[in-house]
Amino acid sequence: MASTHPRLRLVYLMTVVYNRHHGVWPGANFAPTEHGRLLPCFVLDDKDGPYMTLSLQTCQQMDAQDPLRPLRDVFDLPTGLIYLDGNSLGALPRATAARLQAVVQQEWGVGLIRSYNTAQWFEQPRMLGDRLAPWLGVGAAEVVVTDTTSVNLFKVLSAAMAMAAQDHPQQRILLSERGNFPTDLYMAEALCAQHGWQLRCVEACEMAQHLTTDVGVLMLTHVNYRTGAMWDMDLWSQKAHAVGALAVWDLAHSAGAVPLALKADQADFAVGCGYKYLNGGPGAPAFVWAHPDHVQRATQPLSGWWGHEQPFAFTPSYAPAVGMGRFLCGSQSVLAMAALGCGLDTFERSLPLGGMSALRKKSLALTDAFIELVQTECAGHGLVLETPLNHAQRGSQVSFSRHEGAYAVVQALIERDVIGDFRAGDPSCGEPDIMRFGFTPLYVGFEDVWRAVVHLKHVLDAGSWREPRFSIAHKVT
Ligand SMILES: Cc1ncc(COP(=O)(O)O)c(C=O)c1O
Repeated sequence: MASTHPRLRLVYLMTVVYNRHHGVWPGANFAPTEHGRLLPCFVLDDKDGPYMTLSLQTCQQMDAQDPLRPLRDVFDLPTGLIYLDGNSLGALPRATAARLQAVVQQEWGVGLIRSYNTAQWFEQPRMLGDRLAPWLGVGAAEVVVTDTTSVNLFKVLSAAMAMAAQDHPQQRILLSERGNFPTDLYMAEALCAQHGWQLRCVEACEMAQHLTTDVGVLMLTHVNYRTGAMWDMDLWSQKAHAVGALAVWDLAHSAGAVPLALKADQADFAVGCGYKYLNGGPGAPAFVWAHPDHVQRATQPLSGWWGHEQPFAFTPSYAPAVGMGRFLCGSQSVLAMAALGCGLDTFERSLPLGGMSALRKKSLALTDAFIELVQTECAGHGLVLETPLNHAQRGSQVSFSRHEGAYAVVQALIERDVIGDFRAGDPSCGEPDIMRFGFTPLYVGFEDVWRAVVHLKHVLDAGSWREPRFSIAHKVT
């Protein structure tokens, strides 16, 4: 109904003109901003419902019955935004800003250098590692939080290669998946060149035939960053051990997203990110784990003073710390550690509500719902599901490829406040471009899933992704 208020009537008329002109979709509307400008906004209402296989009402009921629902309020997400990119950068916990302010003003401003002791700044890599340990299925004192995933991977690969060279000097192949995250392959490539090893990259489906007795280290990313496909950690660690190789796992898309049992699953080394599902903030410190059976043997080449057994003895020669402390290198970002602490708080808040098993259950229900809705509502638009349907092989993201316009579709969705991301394929081997949608059960709900699919359907039905502005390439995709 058009309003009788002159200004709102103008808004209504502009809406009609906008809709007619763009032919976009019936819910497109205009809203005045605080600066008085009129911007298109996209209002979905129940009339969008009946054609959807899973109705809005059902999704709202699922949210109402969701035991994890209260955790959404632990995050500071803009109203109306549907955030499906927690697999790239986790959302901001509400507590982070105040915590950082306290660290800056009190611990730094007032405590100054004393805070290394009084505020336990020096202990943060170990303290945060202890808090993370249960989510990885390992014991306290087995994990340290430090540096980046790439740097930690360099350390553990070096350590694993040195151990392999001692135990099986003939096994000088580092085996990995061709579609592994590039930084993993880049690090492996540099280390292989340095140590006279060979990097062998194969398709996932060919892994078994290439895991031969000349392999010294198997390096896998547990959940693939493009497809969301998950390796069976226990099976592949065992297979590596059967040929005398060590198993190194990248948990960037697993930590906080899927249940992990590194020790039970016989992993040898693992690394992972703090800024994705762990909600530690952009550039948050990463983590590193070594099996306790290896740690005293493990040497890593970045022998900085924080990894020394007595950093404040200031001795001229290096002696590695006893335990995981040897995987530290230099001074850590105290502010970034404080933010990661707030990210870990959000997980600990889930413990009385069922912890990781509740998170996993919801994650699978969210990804199932998204897959079902996209496949039925967006049929005929050339979307190809790249994520396994089998729960045991799925992480917490869903990826669709499209032969044309995947980047533009993601950009068109972002304009509608539905944030996913895009990962370019490698045409030389037929790898398609991918649209990725991450489902973080801490803050994504079933209504978000429903609304995201309505937006995707409209972008595809109306072809609005073809508008030239959606193809403008950004540095970060
Ligand atoms: C699987 C995987 N490993 C490693 C990285 C890179 O981590 P960092 O930038 O902390 O070195 C990423 C980043 O997205 C990733 O997805």
